[in-house]
Amino acid sequence: MDNRPIGIFDSGLGGLTVVRELMRQLPNERLVYFGDTGRVPYGSRSPEIVKRYAAQDCGFLLEQDVKYIIAACGTVSSVAADVLQALPVPAMGVVEPTAEAALAVSKTGRIGVIGTSVTVRSSSFERAIKRTRPDAQVFSQACPVLVTLVESGWVEEDNTATEAVARQYLEPFMEQRIDTLILGCTHFPLLSMIISRILGEDVTLINSGATTAAKCTSLLTQRDMLAASDRTGGCRFFVSDQPHNFAGVAEMFLGRAVSEDVRQINMEGVG
Ligand code: DGL
Repeated sequence: MDNRPIGIFDSGLGGLTVVRELMRQLPNERLVYFGDTGRVPYGSRSPEIVKRYAAQDCGFLLEQDVKYIIAACGTVSSVAADVLQALPVPAMGVVEPTAEAALAVSKTGRIGVIGTSVTVRSSSFERAIKRTRPDAQVFSQACPVLVTLVESGWVEEDNTATEAVARQYLEPFMEQRIDTLILGCTHFPLLSMIISRILGEDVTLINSGATTAAKCTSLLTQRDMLAASDRTGGCRFFVSDQPHNFAGVAEMFLGRAVSEDVRQINMEGVG
């Protein structure tokens, strides 16, 4: 048993898709969330900068005495696995659990991936899929503008601007006849309705936030690292830019109001 909190981080709000699921699956766990809102997006930066930011983000979470770290960010998970492996506590990213979930549902092995430019250039999901199923056909598309739209809260099902952008990115997948689409950026589950409407019901969407939370739950259970069942769980939120915008958009990710204090921390000069 381990009553210390679980640390979760992302470049911004996308990682809250993991928090939402963790709160549902592990109500006794205390969570610490850090969203690097002052430096979002990570997905169009160089892998070296993403690694440096990831190391700093983990450094902040370690100061909060976390027992486990989740890089709830497709971009960090794709290029900074070595940073996660070198930490003094166990850590995981979103690539492996999400690839595993896609392989479990895909019948044809024709799998699409959407993510940031860094994620797609790294071929991380494709490599993870092919390790298990070498004959799979993986088609990837970077969708950087969707990250900005989600961070701005443009996620309503009937948002025509977001739908038009998504359609442009997703159209090639129709000809490629995929049966499964990995939402390889943790921001994208908020666009599931729009994406499903474009691709049709025959394409199964894999939510990287939900699959990662499920994997974390089973790993902590196996390793006997869960908090005691009489503990009260909850989440503390930290951001690196003004907190006042956070609560409104965070509510859409979490499916509930953020009543907790959101604290701003200064990442300048860290690491
Ligand atoms: N949520 C992040 C991801 O999963 C990235 C968005 C960004 O910072 O570009 O890739």
